[in-house]
Amino acid sequence: MSKPFQIMQMAFSGHLNFKLYQERMYQLKVIIASTRPGRKGPTIANWLIEQLKNQSDFEVELLDLKEINLPFMDEPEHPRLQQYQHEHTKAWSKKINAGDAFIFVTPEYNFGYPAPLKNALDFLYQEWTYKPLGFVSYGGISGGTRSVQMLKQVVTALKMVPLIEAVHIPYFNKNIDDEGEFIGDEGHIHMAQGLFKELARWTKQLKTMRS
Ligand SMILES: Cc1cc2nc3c(=O)[nH]c(=O)nc-3n(C[C@H](O)[C@H](O)[C@H](O)COP(=O)(O)O)c2cc1C
Repeated sequence: MSKPFQIMQMAFSGHLNFKLYQERMYQLKVIIASTRPGRKGPTIANWLIEQLKNQSDFEVELLDLKEINLPFMDEPEHPRLQQYQHEHTKAWSKKINAGDAFIFVTPEYNFGYPAPLKNALDFLYQEWTYKPLGFVSYGGISGGTRSVQMLKQVVTALKMVPLIEAVHIPYFNKNIDDEGEFIGDEGHIHMAQGLFKELARWTKQLKTMRS
């Protein structure tokens, strides 16, 4: 049965609104890149998740590299073959395969990205390909932008599509309150909305391309 015909049938059976909403839903994985004790990544990711509650394009899952706890890349075969030997790789593969879009929440370490993120990227290949990627970066004067620029080079080798629209947060500590919670200002919210809009556009097109 063709899709337009299915949708017409649903309209008559009263399921149209629900089904159309479902059709719009893409799986977004938000990945926390830093893993060190005392890291600030989770509070920034929590703020991002709050912002994502105001949109209806994405169903969101938070993936924390600290919890996922991958060892240093230990698969004997190239990831593009998907002949994974270890359960941790199979579990990581399943999580990333289910994603239609990604946002990395990343700091800048020595003008670059954190090593656990590169490690997590290297474990897989096909699971990342032809999927869009947004960034929320934080740091000192650079707002983590040098980390993001370096990441763009890496992720294009995985055929991901890194977006221009991003949230960059310079001097992010200024926005962390006494409870340790990151409170984004209007500028951050504006950047986040621009990112979500662009991410949804690319997600839709790339999902069609993958199907
Ligand atoms: C190893 C290390 C290197 C850092 N290098 C930079 C840097 O190059 N640029 C920057 O803006 N901040 C740098 N910082 C400061 C981080 O922006 C700040 O510590 C931030 O909280 C790190 O993110 P995290 O708390 O999620 O680990 C560095 C911090 C660490 C621990």
